[in-house]
Amino acid sequence: MKIAHVALVGATGMVGEEILRVLEERAFPLSQLTLLASRRSAGTRVDFRSQRHVVRPLTRDALDDVDLVLFAADAETSSTYAPLAVHAGAVVLDCSSAFRSAPHVPLCVPEINPGVLQQHQGIIAMPHSVTIQVALALAPIHQAATLTRVIIATYQAISGSGRRAVQEFDQQLRDLLNFRPPAVEVLPHQIAFNCVPQCGAFLDNAYTQDEMALIVETPTLLGAPDLAVTATAAYVPLAHSHSAAVYCETAQRLSVAEARALLEHAPGVALEDDYAHQQYPQAIRASTQDAVFVGRLRADLAIPHGLHLWVVADNLRKGAALNVVQTAELLLALP
Ligand SMILES: NC(=O)c1ccc[n+]([C@@H]2O[C@H](COP(=O)([O-])OP(=O)(O)OC[C@H]3O[C@@H](n4cnc5c(N)ncnc54)[C@H](OP(=O)(O)O)[C@@H]3O)[C@@H](O)[C@H]2O)c1
Repeated sequence: MKIAHVALVGATGMVGEEILRVLEERAFPLSQLTLLASRRSAGTRVDFRSQRHVVRPLTRDALDDVDLVLFAADAETSSTYAPLAVHAGAVVLDCSSAFRSAPHVPLCVPEINPGVLQQHQGIIAMPHSVTIQVALALAPIHQAATLTRVIIATYQAISGSGRRAVQEFDQQLRDLLNFRPPAVEVLPHQIAFNCVPQCGAFLDNAYTQDEMALIVETPTLLGAPDLAVTATAAYVPLAHSHSAAVYCETAQRLSVAEARALLEHAPGVALEDDYAHQQYPQAIRASTQDAVFVGRLRADLAIPHGLHLWVVADNLRKGAALNVVQTAELLLALP
């Protein structure tokens, strides 16, 4: 595939802006860039590689003559327009949840399963941001010792819910510090100075959308359909970077030293694990970084093959923008 013309849908959003930064930083080869969003922000001016671009409204015609479309808008927009883009001859990389469980749509994290790109039929889905970081930390452990059980608790940043959620958080902080009652519209409850165990809508089984993303997407990415995964996902009052406490059990014994050695050499992972010097991953340090940071490695005290990890990554970066640009780079490199 030769990429000449790239379109970005959702160019004014948090993920869209990060994608533009990553495309610039990595000198992604493109000859034409079309920036699209809703009618609300049509006309917005955006600088990219020292050139001014004007954001246009997403229409069916806007996707004509495009080679690659990066979707970073809501799932409904992807569901409607991604098939149209494919019909018009483009390949689609979708950051939304629209196609993550669709048959014949590969879910890709380039460091884990680049081979799935060979099988795409026009649309390639990006996993949920928190799945990407958890799966990257677990992949080398699974390869070496075969995971049998994974239990995840997440501490997710508010930017995972988009710009309006971050603006609401910001306003709540101002209101509370000025003794005013905070407005709550975007997230289900006040998030400033709070912890909310609901990321996404509840499904009929009492799990939330983000919990089910971890449960369904982690085995898919690891190529382990029978792997038993469960999760509890919560928002914490931070703008950027998700943290996750990950407990896993393996079929074969893996010492902490062996796990550490594996993670030290795992692509996309940065090991930060020196408890004697109080060194471990932290959300404020992971923000704007490419790597998924892993630390707090320790053996479970009751279960012989049980291992605990603390996994932190910038949700807008490796959780979305970097992953999609790396996937596009791999597509370009396909023969
Ligand atoms: N935030 C994360 O950490 C993260 C990580 C991985 C994946 N994702 C996924 O990435 C997508 C974008 O997330 P975000 O956080 O960037 O959200 P966001 O900040 O709310 O941005 C949403 C973007 O979508 C555009 N948009 C909305 N309705 C549209 C329509 N009808 N037609 C065209 N464009 C439309 C918006 O344009 P306007 O400016 O015109 O409203 C804006 O550019 C979501 O599907 C999200 O689930 C997010």
